[in-house]
Amino acid sequence: MDTATVDVGELTELLLDEQFYAGDPHPVLARLRVEAPVVRDRRYGFWAVTRHRDVFEISRDNDRFVSGYGVNLAHFVPEPLPVPGSLLSCDPPIHTHYRRTLWDAFTPTKIRALAPLVRARAVALLDAFAADTDAPVEIVSALAVPYPLIVLAELLGLPIDDWHEYGHWMDAAVRTNNPHALAEDRAVVDHMRVFLLQAVAERRGTDAPGVITMLADHRDADGTPLTDRELLMFLLQLFIAGNETTRNTITGGIVALAENPAQWAMLRADRSLVDKAVEEILRYTSAVTHFFRTALVDTSVGGVPVAQGDKIFLSYTSANRDAEAFGPTADQFHIARSPNPQLAFGFGAHFCLGAALARLEVRVLLEEMLDRFTALELAGPVVRLPNVAIAGFAHAELRFDRA
Ligand code: HEM
Repeated sequence: MDTATVDVGELTELLLDEQFYAGDPHPVLARLRVEAPVVRDRRYGFWAVTRHRDVFEISRDNDRFVSGYGVNLAHFVPEPLPVPGSLLSCDPPIHTHYRRTLWDAFTPTKIRALAPLVRARAVALLDAFAADTDAPVEIVSALAVPYPLIVLAELLGLPIDDWHEYGHWMDAAVRTNNPHALAEDRAVVDHMRVFLLQAVAERRGTDAPGVITMLADHRDADGTPLTDRELLMFLLQLFIAGNETTRNTITGGIVALAENPAQWAMLRADRSLVDKAVEEILRYTSAVTHFFRTALVDTSVGGVPVAQGDKIFLSYTSANRDAEAFGPTADQFHIARSPNPQLAFGFGAHFCLGAALARLEVRVLLEEMLDRFTALELAGPVVRLPNVAIAGFAHAELRFDRA
């Protein structure tokens, strides 16, 4: 397809094509934003929404646009499920109830308490490859994969040395999100369920640190404990939501810094920019490409009528490059960008519950890198992954000059 000249109505087909995000999706998204910001997809019938203001408006309006009918194409359901597959795919009142249950693990005090552990993990990983400065480092496997998995293990209260295995489980769990999943992957997921429920049973009534103990001992206001299905839903959701998202934000951020050496130099010269740099990395990488909503009533989006029951595709990748929100430099990587109303974590009732933890992980990593490296440089081609939901990286080799 020649994406520069083809009829704009055909472009929405690309939004669910896994090769789309493995290349450069931005020219197509820019065309959609200008020529057809709210446009119906001809194959599946959903509305593709690409402007920042529309994605923001829909995300914050949980009365008109709901998540309970599913937030990705593979998981649409005719009626909301009594126990949702995830916190993402439900609405109030159950969503409010579940979110309160999990919130205790993400309060500012809890996240602050995790900070020394997060720093220790970042230091250990960076020190392992900082010794030999001449050799290029493949940062996906050496850093971006282990770091969030180890932090998630700390958060949940699982042994961190088994992070390889958790990664293997999560990969299998993500692959089973597909009707043709392999029996082998299903068996891995079954094993993981047994393991997690056993961990819940072992920690119940103990003072062991971590979210597993917190959920094992949770009681609703009327004294009801969580069911096994609810427990598994929470634990899997945390592992899945906190893993590839953070991994690819980190890889994308480091690659962007290597591709823009002046930005790394600016950050080295002024460390007070670190928090802004984290926001810019989130915006620029937009690890989560999209989620869907369903219109609960007949309404309109950006002046286009939308009917009750219609599915709406919210493109975070596109919203985060919208010049209307980010000005003429929207396509450039500027660590000092301000204001930066990035939507990488979504917005509204479903705003990423792990946002503070993800920000902490990226910030701590940047700080530790600033202590060690004067310059970052790409040492080979950057390979992106074919994936519809996550803007992922398979491989990125870099050379680091030590301070
Ligand atoms: C840079 C990394 C991350 C990105 C880009 C990201 C992005 C997102 C996005 C876009 C949403 C959905 C918002 C919506 O539907 O409106 C979300 C929800 C969620 N995220 Fe994250 N996330 C990240 C890291 C994490 C981490 C580390 C955790 C936990 C350990 C986490 C847990 C969750 C949960 C539980 C939800 C569901 C919230 C709800 O539906 O109420 N995320 N995230």
